[in-house]
Amino acid sequence: MSKSFQAPKGVAEYFPPQSNQFELIIRKLENISLAANYHLIELPVFEDTELFTRGVGESTDVVTKEMYTFEDRGGRSLTLRPEGTAGVIRSIIEHGLDRGQLPVKLYYRGAFFRAERPQAGRHRQFYQFGIEAVGVDDPYLDAEVISIAYSAFSALGLKNYELQITSLGDEISRAAHRIELLKYLEAQSLDDETRARVAKNPLRIFDDKRENIREMMMGAPLLIDFLSSESKTKFSQLKSALASLSIPFKENPRMVRGLDYYTGSAFEFVHHGLGAQSGIGGGGRYDGLMKSLGGQDLSGIGFGLGLDRIMLAMQSEGLFKVEDLANGYLDLFIVPIGEPARLKAVSLIDEVRRAGFVADMGYGDRSLKGAMKAADKLAARNVLVLGENELSSNKAALKRMSDGNEVSVTLDSLISALKSAL
Ligand code: HAM
Repeated sequence: MSKSFQAPKGVAEYFPPQSNQFELIIRKLENISLAANYHLIELPVFEDTELFTRGVGESTDVVTKEMYTFEDRGGRSLTLRPEGTAGVIRSIIEHGLDRGQLPVKLYYRGAFFRAERPQAGRHRQFYQFGIEAVGVDDPYLDAEVISIAYSAFSALGLKNYELQITSLGDEISRAAHRIELLKYLEAQSLDDETRARVAKNPLRIFDDKRENIREMMMGAPLLIDFLSSESKTKFSQLKSALASLSIPFKENPRMVRGLDYYTGSAFEFVHHGLGAQSGIGGGGRYDGLMKSLGGQDLSGIGFGLGLDRIMLAMQSEGLFKVEDLANGYLDLFIVPIGEPARLKAVSLIDEVRRAGFVADMGYGDRSLKGAMKAADKLAARNVLVLGENELSSNKAALKRMSDGNEVSVTLDSLISALKSAL
């Protein structure tokens, strides 16, 4: 027997009927983003490795442990994108998109890659929908970005989640906090590895999952208490804007985003029905990223939403059940019996589809019984059987599957009959 294959460990894949739900989530996010004047950017799936080491940051788990890095045939080091922001900024700089109207507003969606230990809601290939607004530093723009995610979650019916926000401050705030935090950490007994992390970025220690370190960090000075007056004002403007949009939020001064580029507003959407992998999306402002990647010194803000986790969150709230997804999707299924009917069905189905209906027909040489079974399995809303009699009389019975009701329709008026049947 020849070898059979399995998808690599930890990759997410979606096929019908679940993929319909996946598409629906993306379409909602796209429409809401387009309505706020964000437009699509289609990015490469792999980039120069240094874009991520410099952009995402050397102190992050993403860069130190999780990148899929390889050498191409020309000896260049490339990495499968672990996130989207660095690539968006690279593209803005490379193509001079920041020389036009600011902010540059872009959205993207697709597969991202992190070599994490797979578990429910944590994949090695996962899917994100993201937006970035680059070139204007305005807390009301921060509120817009958050409101797009919030509107999408509302449109999808999600309820059991919380928006957490904080401010990571500007350079002045962070420098002041860093001095106090380092003082605090120096007085603790830390192992060598933790000390090395402190040296790279002391804020990372807030993200340490070990119980003793968490306890130790309970007494650590918080960045939110060191905000400069400018950062404080911006943060309160953001909060006022969220309140005026009726978006509930909770302040979480201990939030540590997993990527190094964040400054100012930072936020996360945390779902309560997902266990350990509860972050369904997150983002924030990044002041120095563009400059560090060789561009102008422009600020940006954006989010990345985890589509895999949004699907799990919707399942956990009973918002869709995989077994329900196919129901009612197909408006019409035609069952042709015999060669002339098969030929007629080919053009009839084409007309119905052009009129905007979702339609399919029985292909292959099937018995009436077999074809009706197929229609049933596909959960078609209406079925039309086409045989010799129907062809000669130009009339057929359109059967509504929900209650078995049948109406006789002429084949020329099938479209209007369908309109009234649905
Ligand atoms: P992030 O927080 O690293 O941010 O990822 C955003 C979201 O992607 C997470 O909240 C989570 O839902 C999902 N996600 C991350 N890793 C995995 C995984 N291994 N499996 C499944 N889902 C995952 C960013 O990526 C930033 N680029 C967001 C951003 C845009 N910030 C500013 N602009």
